[in-house]
Amino acid sequence: MSKEAGTGAERLSALMMVVVAVIILAGMLFGYDQGVISGALSGIKKSFGLGPTLLEVVTSWVTLGALVGSLIGGELADRIGRKKAVLAAGVLFTLGALLQSIAPDTLVLVGGRLIIGIGVGLAAVAAPLYGAELAPASWRGRFVSAYQLAITIGIFLAYQVDAVLSGEESNWRLMLGAAAVAGIALFLAALAAPESPRWLLKVGRKEEALAELRAVRPGVDQAPVVAAIEGSLREEAHNASWAEVFDRRWRRPLMLAVGLAIYQQITGINAIIYYADGIFASAGFTTPAAQTMATTWAIGAVNVLATFIAIAYIDKIGRRPLLLAGLVGMGVSLFAVGCAFLSKGGAAGAVTLVGLVIFIISFAFSLGPVVWTVINEVFPSRVRGRAVAVATAVNWGAAFVVSQFFLTLVEAIGRPATFWLFTFFCVTGWVWVWRRVPETNGRTLEEIELFWAEPALVPAADRS
Ligand code: BGC
Repeated sequence: MSKEAGTGAERLSALMMVVVAVIILAGMLFGYDQGVISGALSGIKKSFGLGPTLLEVVTSWVTLGALVGSLIGGELADRIGRKKAVLAAGVLFTLGALLQSIAPDTLVLVGGRLIIGIGVGLAAVAAPLYGAELAPASWRGRFVSAYQLAITIGIFLAYQVDAVLSGEESNWRLMLGAAAVAGIALFLAALAAPESPRWLLKVGRKEEALAELRAVRPGVDQAPVVAAIEGSLREEAHNASWAEVFDRRWRRPLMLAVGLAIYQQITGINAIIYYADGIFASAGFTTPAAQTMATTWAIGAVNVLATFIAIAYIDKIGRRPLLLAGLVGMGVSLFAVGCAFLSKGGAAGAVTLVGLVIFIISFAFSLGPVVWTVINEVFPSRVRGRAVAVATAVNWGAAFVVSQFFLTLVEAIGRPATFWLFTFFCVTGWVWVWRRVPETNGRTLEEIELFWAEPALVPAADRS
């Protein structure tokens, strides 16, 4: 256990609050762009007379852009720094949103979707990475969870904006264009934010690193912090090559991060986020108003509120207990929802509603925030940028596959079996986490690095 971890509640400086603002704005943009399209689609369809294939392109090219953006993001964050990578994301968000809102035809609209997607991917890599590097060890989980909280607020806001603007056909331009405001806010916040001292030390700018450290953590003895970072950077004359990211030495953290990224998606979260209206419809919520209401509050609002559980506990009881408890809640509730679809009895609607609420709560305090936290803390800084990018791109790829094939799967094997398949992944995920995921809570990034060099250092309690 590190000295830092023991202090528990080091006070955050004003500059550190700017760091938190950057993380929150980036997350909100991620969530907003994820949630807003469902309400904008029907207006776009009418304006441009689009068929189903082009509608799918309009929907999914953000994910495609995010996949590309997350791969570029790691490279960029390593080359130009974490702060400038976030600035670039702010520019892309603003440009993409404006382009979508004035698009005269489908081509420009899709171009805008792609640009905003690249921004989402870039921010999804750069912002949590930046937060993980700047946070004191005893705050790291909460910093990265703040990112997840912001994603959920973004999704919730998008559901609300869609509902308010749904009256007028052409309002889809406003729905999509509104993201420009947050894009500009992100750019301004990132402009005022400090660069990551860890990155500055890595590229040999020690004076600047010391100045930033003094500014973000006044009153904290800088010498041991710098010595620890320099120690972990010592072998690093330059950034790792792509080949090195996949080197045997880093196989364990890579498998860990990629495994978590995949499990976060194949246990069904985005099938629920995107298709909640339809799921509630087939569970007996007959009017569109009742479906929207259920989605906005039972999914959107509950997702936000339950994320606070993670923020409260992630740096106290640790990552593993949250993951294990969450997977149990998710598995049991998905199983119950599957049964409700099978029985189609009078109580099916109520069971589905309660089941989905328990599922969202369980995801929000576990796989949602914990996955992003662990992905951002397990890699040595030499490979961190690129390795986080790989895990983030895999997460987007898995999200794309699940959201693309959910409806096809429901048609092929039926709703009950689809939900039980998600349950099955919760079970295998639980076993995998139990056996493979070490506890990283309260350790500095430098201490975590030692896990992989010396597996025996992983405390037995963390492995059992
Ligand atoms: C996931 C997203 C998901 C969101 C829901 C995030 O952690 O990466 O795919 O939509 O949580 O809150």
